[in-house]
Amino acid sequence: MTGRIIGTGSYVPEQVVTNEDLAKIVDTTDEWIVTRTGIHERRIAVHEGTSEMAAKAARRALEDAGMEAGELDIILLATSSPDNCFPNGACEVQAAIGAKNAVAFDISAACSGFEFALSTVQAFLQAGIYKTALIIGVDCLSKLTDWNDRSTCVLFGDGAGAAVLRAEETGVIHSVMGSDGTKGPVLSCSARTGGNFLNGKRPELGFIYMDGQEVFKFAVKKVPECIQQVLKESGTDIDEVKYFVLHQANYRICESVAKRLKQPLDKVPMNIGSYGNTSGATVPILLDELNRQGKLERGDKIVMAGFGGGLTWGAALVEW
Ligand code: COA
Repeated sequence: MTGRIIGTGSYVPEQVVTNEDLAKIVDTTDEWIVTRTGIHERRIAVHEGTSEMAAKAARRALEDAGMEAGELDIILLATSSPDNCFPNGACEVQAAIGAKNAVAFDISAACSGFEFALSTVQAFLQAGIYKTALIIGVDCLSKLTDWNDRSTCVLFGDGAGAAVLRAEETGVIHSVMGSDGTKGPVLSCSARTGGNFLNGKRPELGFIYMDGQEVFKFAVKKVPECIQQVLKESGTDIDEVKYFVLHQANYRICESVAKRLKQPLDKVPMNIGSYGNTSGATVPILLDELNRQGKLERGDKIVMAGFGGGLTWGAALVEW
């Protein structure tokens, strides 16, 4: 037994923010952003939070799967921008969609979160502990962004993507995850640190900090490595893979990964131009687009791969 993806869904907020819009608030240009990142515009949540976006994507995934929320055994929600410290976002989605029979909890692995959630539920499904699962990658980084910092604020967007899995004979073939906590400081966002009654300080909120070049170097090395690992360990030839559904952080990273894997760029679909980096949501949003465009057929092999804060990385080989 393994986990097979039987439905996908996604949601992005309505509000479009273009590069020109950002050029009005920080010293940047459309040309700089497009040539360095491939991003033309992003969606920003104005009135909704992380859990609401997640619930919308979840409902769409359940509808696509033809499944009722009450049939779900487990909900894993991957985010690094939850609405609350607790209750967790997965429990809020559980309540919103009425998944009364599921256990629900969050996973925090930044932009690798969806791959971590997939690997984790796959273990439960493979072990026969649960039969059905909902996984969600969702982030609302606009609330963690310093809108005065041009080096980060142009990169991110808000959104959610979800997938429903069921225990079947085929599906997730193999997955790998990795982390290196020693590199944590290159991409970080502290939250509510340093305050209590003894030191008399109020907790302070942090913003996203990123050493862009270090993250870039890490990504172009680690993503091909973990893809090669997942293929090697499953005895799969790279040419059997139809699509590499990669974390959408920068089109130049996607190009570089394709080059290092010696794969044509048309096997690396991208939507970063429209949404920017939605963190844990990029891979499931892109997966949902491919699914709804009819580009995935039963038996196709695809690889999903993510990388991000932690530092973390992960890849999964999936038979559709
Ligand atoms: N508009 C205009 N200029 C900008 C800018 C912006 N939005 N942001 C930075 N710059 C400037 C810098 O200040 C710097 O100027 P200087 O040379 O006068 O000091 C110059 O552009 C080059 O900056 P640099 O950081 O070297 O650019 P880069 O080519 O490395 O591109 C990133 C920056 C962030 C696009 C790139 O490093 C990247 O994509 N890194 C990976 C990020 C990532 O994947 N993050 C998500 C991880 S999940």
